[in-house]
Amino acid sequence: MGFFKKTVRDVPLQGKRVFIRVDYNVPLKDGQVSDDLRIRASIPTLQYLLDQGCSLVLMSHLGRPEGHDLKYSLEPTAVRLGELLQKEVIFVDDIVGDAALQAVKKAPQGSIVMLQNLRFDTREEEDDEEFARGLARVAQADYFVQDGFGVVHRAHASTHAITMQLPSVSGLLLEKEYVTITEAMENPKRPFVSVLGGAKVSDKVKVVERFVKLADSVLIGGAMANTFLAYKGINVGKSKVESDQKEVLDGVYAAAREKVGDAVDKFVVLPTDVAVAKEVSEAAARDERSVDDIKEDELALDIGPQTIEVFCSIVENAGTVIWNGPLGLSELTNFSHGSARMALSLATHPKVTSIVGGGDTADFVLKWDTKKGGSFTHVSTGGGASLDLMAGNKLPGVEALLDA
Ligand code: 3PG
Repeated sequence: MGFFKKTVRDVPLQGKRVFIRVDYNVPLKDGQVSDDLRIRASIPTLQYLLDQGCSLVLMSHLGRPEGHDLKYSLEPTAVRLGELLQKEVIFVDDIVGDAALQAVKKAPQGSIVMLQNLRFDTREEEDDEEFARGLARVAQADYFVQDGFGVVHRAHASTHAITMQLPSVSGLLLEKEYVTITEAMENPKRPFVSVLGGAKVSDKVKVVERFVKLADSVLIGGAMANTFLAYKGINVGKSKVESDQKEVLDGVYAAAREKVGDAVDKFVVLPTDVAVAKEVSEAAARDERSVDDIKEDELALDIGPQTIEVFCSIVENAGTVIWNGPLGLSELTNFSHGSARMALSLATHPKVTSIVGGGDTADFVLKWDTKKGGSFTHVSTGGGASLDLMAGNKLPGVEALLDA
């Protein structure tokens, strides 16, 4: 499948100045980047541009700061990028002011300048045209390259308004994410299995509906499985249930029944056993039982061993698996068994195309995987963006780029 937008490969970039939107919204610990997936994932585009003799100006957001709060400074990401590229990254604590302009002007050919966190200026999230003009004035670039896949579901100044200022094309990460996920959804090797977990059905309604339409099996785990189980009349004890999702689930089951008739419970596969605890805490012991035996004072916090076997055997025999959402409360070791076994099944069955959605699922597999995500076909750098793409939504930051 080709990409429907122009990329850096389609425009003459030799020796040009290029303004690049990356998504370096990464976790920090003690002033350092604690997970650099998004930074590493941006390297192919940056290296491609450096190899063409381009001068680079980088912009990103980090977190959701209120004003100029240096706790959210992008400086640690500039340091990490410099280490990865083995090249100086000139960081400037300014976005559209004179300091940023001078830093770009003074930067020698082939250098990298990184601007401060775009969200220090409220106009970024307002998709403000004046702010976008300011960005373009600072960067003095020939092209804008969108490579921040994680943020293209937002219509912000750096994903949308900026594209009215400069000829705008996709970077290699954005292209790879978009094509890999879309291809897996629309043209999968079958059987096509979707594994869905995480906290809430309400966060993933459109994704669940789309998988019911496109997949051959839909496996449901995580806390959202409790809402499905409760809908089926199963007592889930103290587990959190979204009782307002009844209509959504009516629709999901109607669509599933239309597709597979009576085989609906083999198609939308729910846990038959769970791991429970009386409270959510690191010290809570793991107790396993059938979903029919959950007690009033218990919370279901992970899928149980029987369900793990069923889920793993389905994915091991799949052609394509898209996994979005942890299958239990995976930040607690005792309740990470389901997610760890899912990761293991995918990692040890390399013939299965395995796509791990971003956000919490990516965080989990990256901690689990000694190969930093290399055990899977693709670990997405996008949380909300990959969900929107899987849901079939248009992404404003992609739509705004030049057509191929
Ligand atoms: C993300 O981490 O999902 C992206 O960087 C977007 O961040 P946001 O949800 O704060 O817009």
